[in-house]
Amino acid sequence: MDYAKEIARLKKEKRAVILAHYYTRGEVQDVADFVGDSLALSEAAAHTDADIIVFAGVHFMAETAKVLSPEKKVLLPDIEAGCSLAESCPADAFREFRKQYPDHLVVSYVNTTVGIKAQTDICCTSTNALQVIESIPAERGIIFAPDRNLGAYLQSLTGRENMVLWDGACHVHEEFSLEKILELKRLHPQAKIVAHPECKAYILAVADFVGSTSALLNFCARDEAQEFIVVTEPGILHRMQCDNPSKTFIPAPPIDSTCGCNDCVYMKMNTLEKIYAVLRDESNEITIPEKEREEALGPIVAMLEIGKK
Ligand code: 13P
Ligand code: SF4
Repeated sequence: MDYAKEIARLKKEKRAVILAHYYTRGEVQDVADFVGDSLALSEAAAHTDADIIVFAGVHFMAETAKVLSPEKKVLLPDIEAGCSLAESCPADAFREFRKQYPDHLVVSYVNTTVGIKAQTDICCTSTNALQVIESIPAERGIIFAPDRNLGAYLQSLTGRENMVLWDGACHVHEEFSLEKILELKRLHPQAKIVAHPECKAYILAVADFVGSTSALLNFCARDEAQEFIVVTEPGILHRMQCDNPSKTFIPAPPIDSTCGCNDCVYMKMNTLEKIYAVLRDESNEITIPEKEREEALGPIVAMLEIGKK
């Protein structure tokens, strides 16, 4: 079957839109109406007038779309597409952790469940995290969850000592090998190293540029370098190569090169076949009890408002 053709037909028939993250497979990005980073995808979900959103991403992203657009049907091509970072922060354990810091504001990355968002004051993504932290008065304590690497990076940028970090991480970004990255740099001395802030501090320390997926894309497009060593999930190379056909993008290797562990297994669960199936059957619909949805809405809206300032 020509899935791309059938998906286009069903999309039109059902007034559906496909949103895809940069980490999904190239062929999935190619059938999407909008491809973006976590922040841009939340904004697209909030503003679309489609009746159905097929979210080619992971569960917390589809959940965020549903929180913002409760009247729309939000479908996830594979209901098992979770996120190791979101899973590293269970709601009950986080509730206990918060009790130790009753006066701190909670800033949480969107890579969390609605149960964590309901305990959050302001959400953030890696694109706006610095802006969100800087919007909070310097004397106010902050709990940052769930990514300890992004949290430590923000501490290093802002010098804020009154920030406590939840000890979570993304399995993909934790697995990059410094040794192998430096070996690549020796082989490609002109290449610039670009890294996502979910990587460990010792990786960020050797990067020429650190940023969210969209920031990495912008940097690679405008920088004069012709070669880049890319330290994030390799799905992003599809867009980098499409936007810059004459430049070379080298995916950074994991510590164990036999495990393929720098692929996000969850993002890669999105396939054309599954997108076609959920569109056809309107299956894998995301539902959230209204009380939980309302609790999660405030911190997401607070984040989107900060972006407008
Ligand atoms: P951004 O697209 O916001 O940089 O996030 C990366 C990520 O880990 C998404 O799961
Ligand atoms: Fe989650 Fe990491 Fe996959 Fe992003 S790359 S969805 S943070 S597991």
